[in-house]
Amino acid sequence: MMTYEEAKAKLEKYSQTHVLKYYDELNDEDKNALLEQIEATDFGALHYVEDRDEMPGRGRITPLGAMELPEIEDNREAFTKTGIEALSQGKVGAVLLAGGMGTRLGSSDPKCMYDIGITKHVYIMQRLIENLQDVVKQCGRPVPLFIMTSEKNDKKTREFMNEHDFFGYDRNSVWFFRQEMAPATDYNGKVYMESKCRIATSPNGNGGWYVSMQRSGILDIVHKLGIEWLNTFAVDNVLQRITDPCFVGATIMRGAAAGAKVVRKVTPDEKVGAMCLEDGRPSIVEYYDMTPELMAAKNDKGQPAYNFGVILNYLFREKDLARIVGEKLPLHIVEKKIPCIDENGEPVSPTEPNGYKFEQLVLDMIHELDTCLPYEVVREHEFAPIKNKTGIDSVESARKLCEMDGITL
Ligand code: UTP
Repeated sequence: MMTYEEAKAKLEKYSQTHVLKYYDELNDEDKNALLEQIEATDFGALHYVEDRDEMPGRGRITPLGAMELPEIEDNREAFTKTGIEALSQGKVGAVLLAGGMGTRLGSSDPKCMYDIGITKHVYIMQRLIENLQDVVKQCGRPVPLFIMTSEKNDKKTREFMNEHDFFGYDRNSVWFFRQEMAPATDYNGKVYMESKCRIATSPNGNGGWYVSMQRSGILDIVHKLGIEWLNTFAVDNVLQRITDPCFVGATIMRGAAAGAKVVRKVTPDEKVGAMCLEDGRPSIVEYYDMTPELMAAKNDKGQPAYNFGVILNYLFREKDLARIVGEKLPLHIVEKKIPCIDENGEPVSPTEPNGYKFEQLVLDMIHELDTCLPYEVVREHEFAPIKNKTGIDSVESARKLCEMDGITL
């Protein structure tokens, strides 16, 4: 473990010596915990807060055509057959991204524990498992499910699953792993302290899943099981279709390195990332990077060129991801509410964003690949994200969509 002097030298290098402000007051155990955390923390990206101009910029954005509904309907039978074949051979696994903090929803429990039921309990996790069970029935065996948590919600998530007997899923086909953490800072790039002996950290973004899978040893299990495709999906879409055989088959039959479920955007400025090519490779242009020119652009059919939004449901050919482990994905600066202590050492729970988190994003993984198939799905049937309590992408809107889809709440 680092000595005090070594820790101080590391912090000086990154202008973060305030981390040791309360060191002398701490007991030995807390002193050691802080030194250990300083040693383990990567402060390398924090300078981007002040040197934003140096952040790696975007490449040249051009359109990428999607496989649209009519084409999917025409080929549904063949795609589904191929998908079921891969699934029944155990070649497809599912990766639930449940490491996020869900701060907008405002519950202190993991998001998967949120109950959207009205007349009975319908937990978010239960909805996901129910959808996955449909595929289990079709392919005749449990689909291996890998659940990514973070150190903030790992224990509660596991306990919740145990308490509910995995909602009837085969527990021997479920693995948990934790994602890595990154420090959080104020608007000047100084890390916040969560307590006198702990730097404020947050999960390092949904793009951290593959490297975290590797570091936690879970990737060895993936390889041992002979899994070739990983379907990564967000926890908060209660209509999420997971390892959808038709989608799996379409991606395989197209020979693509990845597939991305997409929905037709409602308006050109809708707040979803759109599939595109960036310097000729597949990528996603985030809504905040959508310029008026991109919004107005038309493809060769005269339709809006960036019209398909991603819903955080991707199918990755696992062997194509190996090179990502060696290279570090860039960190993105995201404005968030960060619980911390103030200058008097008193705890603060901010109600408004007060600084930055640093996140790796799935879009940077897609950009590492040679090909990605955008695959259109019907929004009303497959996209009911819960980000907020009320309004857009909320518990309310998701409940309405569930009811329209015949799900009793
Ligand atoms: P969001 O981008 O909505 O982030 O996550 P969030 O942290 O859950 O929510 P807010 O912004 O604080 O309200 C989209 C998906 O990515 C996962 C989330 O759990 C969700 O499934 N995620 C996000 C992670 O697994 N790890 C992260 O570090 C961030």
